[in-house]
Amino acid sequence: MVVKKICCVGAGYVGGPTCSVIALKCPEIQVTVVDLSKSRIAQWNSDKLPIYEPGLDEIVKQCRGKNLFFSTDIETAILEADLIFISVNTPTKTIGNGKGRAPDLKYVEGAARMIADIAQSDKIVVEKSTVPVRAAESILKILSANQKPGVSYQILSNPEFLAEGTAINDLINADRVLIGGEESPKGKTAIEELCGIYEHWIPREKIFTTNTWSSELSKLAANAMLAQRISSINSLSAVCEATGADVSEVATAVGLDSRIGSKFLQASIGGSCFQKDILNLVYICECLNLPEVAAYWQQVVDMNEYQKSRFTAKVIQSLFNTVSGKTVTILGFAFKKNTGDTRETPAIHVAKTLLDEGATLKIYDPKVEEDQIYYDLTHPSVCESPEMVKKAVSVYQDAYLACENSHAIVLCTEWDEFKTLDYHKIYHVMMKPAYMFDGRKILDHQALIDIGFHVQTIGKTLQRPLLTRLCGVNSCMH
Ligand code: NAI
Repeated sequence: MVVKKICCVGAGYVGGPTCSVIALKCPEIQVTVVDLSKSRIAQWNSDKLPIYEPGLDEIVKQCRGKNLFFSTDIETAILEADLIFISVNTPTKTIGNGKGRAPDLKYVEGAARMIADIAQSDKIVVEKSTVPVRAAESILKILSANQKPGVSYQILSNPEFLAEGTAINDLINADRVLIGGEESPKGKTAIEELCGIYEHWIPREKIFTTNTWSSELSKLAANAMLAQRISSINSLSAVCEATGADVSEVATAVGLDSRIGSKFLQASIGGSCFQKDILNLVYICECLNLPEVAAYWQQVVDMNEYQKSRFTAKVIQSLFNTVSGKTVTILGFAFKKNTGDTRETPAIHVAKTLLDEGATLKIYDPKVEEDQIYYDLTHPSVCESPEMVKKAVSVYQDAYLACENSHAIVLCTEWDEFKTLDYHKIYHVMMKPAYMFDGRKILDHQALIDIGFHVQTIGKTLQRPLLTRLCGVNSCMH
């Protein structure tokens, strides 16, 4: 079989960009991305795509209607496809066994059942969603139990390593492509088919093939180890604040060791998209009766939670231990820059804590829609009274307006535009004393202090202007 038609089930942050790049690089292959959500597919077919990702608009415009299609006609796309990617969401379970830790595989199972119901010819089914080790076995069980005569399946694991905000570059210039499959002749043939697609633009030496289980585990391991680096530097940021060390200097000094390297050593407010995958790994370890391993990785998640609460506690403490009746501006709501995704964003934690303490919030993010912010803050896991949230939160389309009459600014996302705002102008429209809490360490703190702000950040203790002035007064008096 030579793959001529691809179907991707799930038009999200992974399915959309991945299939757009495949369509761009493989003009002879027809790629159809399907989703149950009519509105999401309508957006993919419109001028305003459902997700923001630098470089994505251009590729979609170039390929859509030629060899790239977005559709809700799941049946036709599955019937015609030689190869099917499963790119559906795998969120952490919110109810039942493994609640709060195990991934909810209902969407993966739903996709597998759909394929089994519809398919009438041989298919290569590729697990692209991040799943627990041995999930391919469950997919195969569902497919084989519902197999029509003459139809056979090969299941491959091909985890996605893209990072939101740099997805297109990560896909085009991937560090590696990982493909796992069955160690049988049929399995090897299926692996070669998928390799053939990536080889359109990825050098063969960067395509690594393994057995299915190694591939599934490698994705969880990679995310766990990336998150571990962030938790490590975040833990040290607390030591820096208590000692006068500067975490950026420590990170540079440590990262200069070639065995360690400089990437992913940026301390910040915490929160990341890795959480669900590490929880997934913790849960697997518990199920495998490996409690020490589970506890080891759980600590990475706990450190992330600690960092978020430590930062929010610092905000409240600095504002004379009460934010009740005060207005706080949150700059940035997305979980990182260059994306509109708010899943696991630290801004939700910050906003929830401040709302619980009685603050009024003004929120600005360049890419997150107002509806999404209200949806996140009124979610039952965040608040008991959606009406109260709607009264206490206003969303702005302009950073300057969002800062007017605020007592403090909390910077939650590292958007580049926040570096170049006119902070003189902002200072003058704020209540005094004006506070700035830089949760991402991106601002020029000395310049802000010179303007008059009280500045707090992560992993570094900064001198406050008020104290300097008071010291001056004291020395005159003695
Ligand atoms: P997403 O939530 O953005 O998209 C998933 C889509 O699947 C949704 O639009 C949903 O409507 C659709 N869907 C669910 N069940 C379906 C069904 N039976 N038929 C058709 N459509 C269905 O999720 P995202 O972020 O794209 O993640 C997908 C997977 O990729 C997850 O397992 C995630 O862990 C993994 N991943 C995500 C990365 C990211 O940066 N977002 C990076 C690497 C992996």
